[in-house]
Amino acid sequence: MRPTLTLLYICFYALLSPLQCGTSSSGDDRRWLVSLVDLVELDYVDHCEQRASAAWNELVGNSKGLTAKLERDKSFGLFVCQQTTDVKSALTAHALSADDNVLRRKVKLLLQPGDTLLETEQWIRLVTFGDNALHNIRFATNYDCGTTSNCTLRELHYNLARQQDEEMLRRMKQSWEQNLPDMNDYLEHILPLLRNASKQNDYNSVEEYWDALGEYEGAILKARELWENVKPLYMKLHKYIALRLKGSDAVGKPLPVHLFRSLTGDDWSNLIENLLPKHSGIYQKVQANLQLKDLGGEAAFKQAAKLIQALNLGEADPEVLNESVFNSTCPPTLVDWCKPNKVRAITCKDVSIANYIEAHEAVMKIVYKQTINLHSNNTYILREASRYSAVYEAIPGFVSLLSLNPYALSRAELFPLEIFKYNPNHHRLVLQLIMALRDLPKLNFYLAADEWRIKVLMGAIPYAKIPSSWSDFRKNFSFIETSDGDFLGDPYMVFNKPFIGKFMGLILKYQIYQSFAEELMSDESDLVKHIAENNDRLIDAMMQGFGTVWPEMVSDLLAKREYGLEYTGLTDYYKFLDEYLDNQLEPPAESDDSDDYVEPVLPEPEENEIPVSEDTQDQKTKDQEIGETHEEIIEENVIDTGDESHQKFGIETSTVGVLEIKNPVAAGDQIEDANTKEASYNAYWWIGIAVALAVVVILIAIIARKRHSHRKQLERQRRDNSRA
Ligand SMILES: *[C@@H]1O[C@H](CO)[C@@H](O)[C@H](O)[C@H]1NC(C)=O
Ligand SMILES: *[C@@H]1O[C@H](CO)[C@@H](O)[C@H](O)[C@H]1NC(C)=O
Ligand SMILES: *[C@@H]1O[C@H](CO)[C@@H](O)[C@H](O)[C@H]1NC(C)=O
Ligand SMILES: *[C@@H]1O[C@H](CO)[C@@H](O)[C@H](O)[C@H]1NC(C)=O
Repeated sequence: MRPTLTLLYICFYALLSPLQCGTSSSGDDRRWLVSLVDLVELDYVDHCEQRASAAWNELVGNSKGLTAKLERDKSFGLFVCQQTTDVKSALTAHALSADDNVLRRKVKLLLQPGDTLLETEQWIRLVTFGDNALHNIRFATNYDCGTTSNCTLRELHYNLARQQDEEMLRRMKQSWEQNLPDMNDYLEHILPLLRNASKQNDYNSVEEYWDALGEYEGAILKARELWENVKPLYMKLHKYIALRLKGSDAVGKPLPVHLFRSLTGDDWSNLIENLLPKHSGIYQKVQANLQLKDLGGEAAFKQAAKLIQALNLGEADPEVLNESVFNSTCPPTLVDWCKPNKVRAITCKDVSIANYIEAHEAVMKIVYKQTINLHSNNTYILREASRYSAVYEAIPGFVSLLSLNPYALSRAELFPLEIFKYNPNHHRLVLQLIMALRDLPKLNFYLAADEWRIKVLMGAIPYAKIPSSWSDFRKNFSFIETSDGDFLGDPYMVFNKPFIGKFMGLILKYQIYQSFAEELMSDESDLVKHIAENNDRLIDAMMQGFGTVWPEMVSDLLAKREYGLEYTGLTDYYKFLDEYLDNQLEPPAESDDSDDYVEPVLPEPEENEIPVSEDTQDQKTKDQEIGETHEEIIEENVIDTGDESHQKFGIETSTVGVLEIKNPVAAGDQIEDANTKEASYNAYWWIGIAVALAVVVILIAIIARKRHSHRKQLERQRRDNSRA
């Protein structure tokens, strides 16, 4: 179809050009190039559509799916090489003028399409390897699920998350490894293709080539630098896991990967129930509510779409969700037809916090694509460039981070805000733990995978040692004992794609989070609402697509607070967790003594930081007055005196005191709330003293009140909060 189009165009062009007397040849060159680029992009769209249909048929398990997919993927390589040649020949010295930035960008993206430039035979080898590998893993039915053998991948994931027995876990993982592609084949014939692909794209080394695809110079070095600052937290989490699962003797030593209930060790979230701190009510409750509401699969996607709408980031086209498939395997896979609103997801229906978080990331990616499409200047190549953009990873990642924000949990009716407010710091700690178990191992895995591949390709590892070098690397770098080839279960690995964009995206998402969180007047304000009202910088970044290289967008994305990647967004986010881990790993000398208690470093002092030391007394009076309807609240607040985290989070017991008082005093407390937040901390201090005095008086009043009147007030508070 394409050659005819081109031919037609050339005829048309030849007919017209004699009429254009007097135009300079550079103008002609430019017009020719512009038209060619337009045509090439249209042809790319055709190819994308056909490949997507084939890929979709393969994913849903149609019998001819894999064959069709292989055919499409192979011919795509030929097509790309041809287009690149065409564009190159049209690119004369006069074709681009100095101010042709958009055209220049398009041409660059078309001329350096990445691995598709490999020689035909080599390209075919690469896609054959990758397509077959992923197909086998997805559709094998010989997995060992512990109690049942011959199960599917979905069942394997499901059982892996629940299995406690170490031996069974090891067997399950082994059964998965049987279905991975051949390691020697990969090392001999697939990985080295990266060297050839670098050459074809005019780079001297794989590292340079990947820097170019990630559009970040010195990316691996930068990633290393960032990692060195995140590593202490990673190590603490690792040690804490060793301590909880294996006892103090195991601390600081590598752990076998199946112990993490993970296949590659890139996600430790299946361990959450073994690691919960003492006050983990929020986890139990969210987990129970997810089950109760059956928030898996499509329901989770719809819930995610609601949050994204509340954030004012756009509406997921209902058709996209309707035509997606939710009875397959997690994590979600997206297929893009490169047409407005034609994206489909395929995923599993299992309910879990991890799948719930994933759903947010997936739906945001869909909305991201819709947003890019809305911008008419974004032609194919500016939407779908073969580049690894951290911004493209970070914005959906940021939304997944928000899925566990107290206001988002409350909106989703998974955990009531008013209960959260009684013990915010205990709850935050649990939420941070859930996130850390997902993100920290990923960060490590991404960097390990990229560094290891570059090392192998540079010849830094003696030939004989290459086959075992991955497990050696993982042991030293990640403190995880893996098998030699388990990375071959990852789609990025089997297709030789760099993880650097994902790595940077993970770092950047915490910076985006921080940039918004810092704008809030107080930790207790509604972050979701705030973002909804100030999300221009997110929308702007999305609309630019690949028109701008992503590092140039970072500063605007972060409201000009930071100009590049910084690890502090991440480490600040995990402050509570960091401290908790410190206390767990090195408990205060005499464990139930408060001598070694270190004042927690809060993001900012809270207005509730009033010198109220009537913890226990306060608790009692509260317990007395709150009737059976609020047993939950009481439960949340029972703090064991033997628990060292009691002292650690002592501050929030006073939060309880203040919240209690506010109600009887003020009727229109919402407005008052907003005003007080604007006051300086100095003023808070004085207010604090006044309130502390008021405490005594009002407490007496409260005790005198009848139960049912108090209940009414609490209900009113709940209504107010849900309105807020
Ligand atoms: C699993 O499948 C294999 C081969 O298809 C078969 O030999 C074996 O009996 C099956 N095991 C069970 C428990 O069904
Ligand atoms: C890389 O290209 C060279 C030259 O075309 C070829 O001899 C070599 O086999 C290629 N490498 C791989 C792994 O195919
Ligand atoms: C999954 O659902 C689709 C319809 O959405 C159905 O056609 C297909 O048979 C189902 N597959 C399985 C394995 O249940
Ligand atoms: C679209 O691109 C053209 C140049 O190619 C530019 O003049 C115009 O301002 C762009 N439109 C938008 C909305 O960015």
